[in-house]
Amino acid sequence: MNPDWDAVARQTVERCRRLARYSEEPGWTTRTYLSAPMHDVHRALREWLAPCGCAVSIDAAGNLRAVRGGSHIAPKLVIGSHLDTVIHAGAFDGVLGVVMGVALFEALGRRELPFDIELIGFSEEEGVRFGLPFLGSRAVTGDLDEAVVAMMSPAIREFGLDPAELPPARLRGPVAGYMEFHIEQGPVLEQLGLPVGIVEAIAGQSRLEVRFEGSAAHAGTTPAHLRKDALAGAAEWIVAVERAMRDTPGLVATVGRITAEPGASNVIAGAAVASLDIRHARDEVRHRAVQRLVGEAEAIASGRGLRACSETRSDLPATPMDAGFVALFEEAVRAAGYPVHRMPSGAGHDAMILAAHVPAAMLFVQSPGGLSHCPQESVREDDVAAALACGAEFLSVLERRHAGGTV
Ligand code: GLV
Ligand code: MN
Ligand code: MN
Repeated sequence: MNPDWDAVARQTVERCRRLARYSEEPGWTTRTYLSAPMHDVHRALREWLAPCGCAVSIDAAGNLRAVRGGSHIAPKLVIGSHLDTVIHAGAFDGVLGVVMGVALFEALGRRELPFDIELIGFSEEEGVRFGLPFLGSRAVTGDLDEAVVAMMSPAIREFGLDPAELPPARLRGPVAGYMEFHIEQGPVLEQLGLPVGIVEAIAGQSRLEVRFEGSAAHAGTTPAHLRKDALAGAAEWIVAVERAMRDTPGLVATVGRITAEPGASNVIAGAAVASLDIRHARDEVRHRAVQRLVGEAEAIASGRGLRACSETRSDLPATPMDAGFVALFEEAVRAAGYPVHRMPSGAGHDAMILAAHVPAAMLFVQSPGGLSHCPQESVREDDVAAALACGAEFLSVLERRHAGGTV
């Protein structure tokens, strides 16, 4: 497999930019779980995959699945990343990993490998639509509980799929491992002048919803001492979140969404709901911070005559990547002629969910300016070409292991 990686990278970037046009909002890239433009994304991927001779399907969670080979009993390799986006996203977060998988399928052509490859474009990773991330990968690993399935089911039906078919969406057969290409989303590789980095662990993350309840009342007639303003309580708490982050080395904590009820400029908010996203490489530090912030929400609320309650939507432990698969990536990066750099990931990835079930590893591609989750997110074609060459070497390393009987 020795194509002109520069040309493949150019096409890969163009394809990502094309998919970015499939959006819920004109002028922006916003594509939440099973929103209508996901049909267009699926259509484009099917079009690109058609000449590769692989079987393409959409599972009941809306994940795109493309299987190359299909006849081997040897454990298969799974390559994946996600196709949903945040609100007002860039063109590369998630999508790049799937489109790079397509490029590797194309580069392989009809060449026989001793193992199958399944490419998965996960339908949901960001957690935007339901406040709960990784729905696509959780469907594949069988980690969706009944309540979550009930929450997803109307969206699944509306997209034309059948939630009763979720059980067969689970990954079947022996799996050698999972690999994911992804933009770094931070500034480290750029500062080091490196095109790619090998992820060795992903920070743990919790997502909560904190609700403050007071009393809605007239903005013009209610004096200060008689107000129970839920939004003012939430605002005080948001500052406490920022303080906890500053006090705790390595902790990142974000309130990225807040809603006020009833949400009118001349009505004192009777309720306010704030999201909390909190991450740390060490789970005990993150859990302590969550406890502290839930306690502070209650204390702030009671000081203002409000009530506060919180709901943990998701709690994912820090996840090391598989040492064996990381070593294979190191071999591949070296064979492709690039320096090896291991690094942690502060961002969450589908690899966190897969890693609990199969060996998982990730390759990061440099993010210019460290920018992500915003329209300015970008990649350099040279770096994508380097990552593709590393991916191709990874397949060769795996092929040699098979020949030697070590996979
Ligand atoms: C995924 O993009 C995350 O929030 O880390
Ligand atoms: Mn993201
Ligand atoms: Mn992502």
